[in-house]
Amino acid sequence: MTMAAKKASKVPADLDAWLSANDSRIFDELNEFLKIPSVSARSEHDGDTRRAAAWLHEKLAKIGFTTETIPTAGHPVIVAEWRKAPPGAPTVLIYGHYDVQPPEPLDLWTSPAFEPTIRDGKLFARGAVDDKGQLWIHVKALEAQLAVRGTLPVNVIVLAEGEEEIGSEHLAPFVEQHANRLACDAVVISDSAMFAPGIPSILSSLRGLAYFEITVRGPSSDLHSGMYGGAVVNPAMALAQILATLHDKRGKIAIKGFYDKVRSFPAAVLKGMRSLPFSDSRFKKDLGVKALGGETGKTTLEKLWTRPTLEVNGMLSGYTGEGAKTVLPGVSMAKVSCRLVPDQDPDVIERLLKAHVKKVAPAGVTVTVQPLHGGKPWRADLDGPIFDAARRALQAAFGRQPVIVGEGGSIPVVGDFARVLKAPVLLVGFGLPGENAHAPDEWISVDNVRRGLRAMAMLLDEYVA
Ligand code: BES
Ligand code: MN
Ligand code: MN
Repeated sequence: MTMAAKKASKVPADLDAWLSANDSRIFDELNEFLKIPSVSARSEHDGDTRRAAAWLHEKLAKIGFTTETIPTAGHPVIVAEWRKAPPGAPTVLIYGHYDVQPPEPLDLWTSPAFEPTIRDGKLFARGAVDDKGQLWIHVKALEAQLAVRGTLPVNVIVLAEGEEEIGSEHLAPFVEQHANRLACDAVVISDSAMFAPGIPSILSSLRGLAYFEITVRGPSSDLHSGMYGGAVVNPAMALAQILATLHDKRGKIAIKGFYDKVRSFPAAVLKGMRSLPFSDSRFKKDLGVKALGGETGKTTLEKLWTRPTLEVNGMLSGYTGEGAKTVLPGVSMAKVSCRLVPDQDPDVIERLLKAHVKKVAPAGVTVTVQPLHGGKPWRADLDGPIFDAARRALQAAFGRQPVIVGEGGSIPVVGDFARVLKAPVLLVGFGLPGENAHAPDEWISVDNVRRGLRAMAMLLDEYVA
């Protein structure tokens, strides 16, 4: 029997009472945070992104954290510290991101992206779940502890960045540079989802990412497709041909060496995944598709959590306006990204893709592969006091033991935390399937916020218990 199962635990009454008494303020303040359009990808929002950082800085300072906003070549990093725990107490680093994805397409939002609205127990806004709402859970859990007890049982560092949604380019060097200051016994992150409503979840893995822009250039300008078509290599067709070579008939990626570093997942993890309640037909229905794709011979969760991918994220070429225009485009472009699993490396994948494209590109066009961003994959051990504490806190707040899940998405800095800080990383998310992260009508469950607040406040107690 695990420690987690042995110890019956409840959310401490003092924390629970404070969180209930302050519930409306917690949500009012979250709304203020969500109203700031901190879209990191758009320079016209740089002022807003700065404003979100300043807003968060002030909130952290106000609850008693020594807070610093540190500029980077991109958006600033906030480091807030509280180091008054009893001697020998461990240090926890809480990470989150205050930047959000662009809200477009705007007309598909039921209520405007930056006007937070509750409908049907869901708080809708860009950033509600990814990641302002989840970061906020930690800030308020810390406030609850400090307000009720006048102290924290552990030293805490809050590290918040504003570039997660654009690849965290400046955060990995930041972590290396400030490794001493950020030294900790555990990292805690809420930037992911639960497996299903009512089922708290701890993440055991994240996929990495290698993102590219492939450009195919042909004739020096667009051409009349009747006068030139048939004799000139068409960059749009050339791009389609190149893309069509990237997978084989069994859904595997046909780039030489692509799978060389793929390590299989431990049998126990795969077994755990198979025991999760998951239905392909339900999944298809939710997504509005008639059939699923990908590698043959793998379950859907295996494909999503344990296998690498190569996907086209966007394509652009030629005439796409109303009606017809007979044109042979001079250029075509595709955005292509690979999700990676341990121990694949984004830099190696870049080399392999470039070599492949060079080999298959037809004569008559010039193809360039430009890397955009990358992040290493990550896998957890899930052993140790922070995971035991999380099991107990989640059990208390949600009324059931957490399940262990994988994840298909990426949080680039997690691999850097594990590597540089050498601390275990607890990823415990409060999103839900269908939460529309990165899409119109993003939401977070109000009930999950409330339970998450209790679980994360209690986590600190349990970690030192
Ligand atoms: N929070 C997500 C990652 C995520 C999504 C984790 C779902 C777990 C469940 C994060 O903000 C994100 O969107 N990451 C990007 C990374 C990229 C922009 C470098 C991703 O996965 O596409
Ligand atoms: Mn996120
Ligand atoms: Mn995101």
